[in-house]
Amino acid sequence: MKRVDDFRLNLGKQELVPIMTGGMGVDISTAELALVSARLGGIGHISDAMVPTVSDRRFKTGFVKEKQKKYKYNVANLNKSDIHFDLERLAEATKLHVGRTMEAKQGDGLIFINCMEKLTMNSPRDTLRVRITAAMDAGIDGITLSAGLHLGSLALVQDHPRFRDVKFGIIVSSLRALLLFLRKSARLNRLPDYIIVEGPLAGGHLGFGMDWVQYDLKTIVDEIHQYLKQENLDIPVIPAGGIFTGSDAVEFLEAGAAAVQVATRFTVTKECGLPDKIKQEYYKAEEEDIEVNLISPTGYPMRMLKKSPSIGAGIRPNCEAYGYLLDATGNCAYIEAYNRELEKHPDEEDISVKDKTCLCTHMRNFDCWTCGHYTYRLKDTSRKLPDGNYQLLNAEDVFKDYLYSTDHQIVLPSA
Ligand SMILES: Cc1cc2nc3c(=O)[nH]c(=O)nc-3n(C[C@H](O)[C@H](O)[C@H](O)COP(=O)(O)O)c2cc1C
Repeated sequence: MKRVDDFRLNLGKQELVPIMTGGMGVDISTAELALVSARLGGIGHISDAMVPTVSDRRFKTGFVKEKQKKYKYNVANLNKSDIHFDLERLAEATKLHVGRTMEAKQGDGLIFINCMEKLTMNSPRDTLRVRITAAMDAGIDGITLSAGLHLGSLALVQDHPRFRDVKFGIIVSSLRALLLFLRKSARLNRLPDYIIVEGPLAGGHLGFGMDWVQYDLKTIVDEIHQYLKQENLDIPVIPAGGIFTGSDAVEFLEAGAAAVQVATRFTVTKECGLPDKIKQEYYKAEEEDIEVNLISPTGYPMRMLKKSPSIGAGIRPNCEAYGYLLDATGNCAYIEAYNRELEKHPDEEDISVKDKTCLCTHMRNFDCWTCGHYTYRLKDTSRKLPDGNYQLLNAEDVFKDYLYSTDHQIVLPSA
């Protein structure tokens, strides 16, 4: 019976363990977590979501305070279009986050950064270019383009000296999205080095509509394999979403996948950035405690625990400090929803906004508990302690469990 360790991912000249830990913003997939995957010969992702905020927490820098001070005059203004990121400071924060992570890297694996197009930051092209450029400058091994079609992203950095040496990958949820990206990248003679195919059971934002339940990862992966074969394109395909055991991973590897991307199992590890109390919420969740909703201002469906404090909260938009989802015209769907509720209830101190959430603030404060579909199975991966809580895991143990397990078995942590 095969184990994940019987397979290898060939990426260019490199041979890697075929396990990738996915990018989980905002700092849920910490540098510590990514570094474990790299040390063990796989690929670990950090995320470039809200990096100035992450840097402040990680290195005690003052990026957020500085921006907040600059735009203090605008706090009571319902129009946020004035608020812009200082591109030099954004580059500085990214270089710090990426650079320090790369300095700490040990072992033969790689560190990639997950780069979301939907972080439009009131200047989508400039901020994306700066984020990708700064990550390359700071020595990142690879960049996974996510949360968007990224039709113009590669062109933004085509003159960078590392453009052909950094690994570039794209996350897609359909063959159609892949075709659009390939057409653009072929024009630059820069095909992706890997393709992550994310199915409907993943955590975070979904590349499907609210009819996600009708889709199936295996079918999409097969379609993409067939297309690549027909076109003689040799690009590694990496499925993601709902791969919960080593045996799940082996099924994909035997069907021709080059590796798998996994995330949910790592949300209850010590290295994961979620506060310990929230890790317990993930452990204790039952299937009916999880929903896919449309409250993200990005417009994409998002999976989360129904108990997330962000659901129904009506906090004042905090774009002076954050503002990562302001579109090219300085708008965000939460601001519109908030202003509408404020107009309806002018005398109420605490308003509730049900249809959208202030994703920046809530992700920053770990109040939006986004999670994968199989979060309700996490309790089966650990031990219940006498106080009713579950034992947190070591990322290394979870990684190795994927690597060596057979028969869908999961090794519990030693007491
Ligand atoms: C808590 C959590 C947060 C996530 N955040 C992001 C994100 O910010 N960007 C992204 O592209 N994918 C995100 N994902 C998706 C993962 O990177 C990964 O592709 C997927 O969850 C893998 O499926 P699994 O969780 O069932 O193993 C997130 C997943 C989880 C569980």
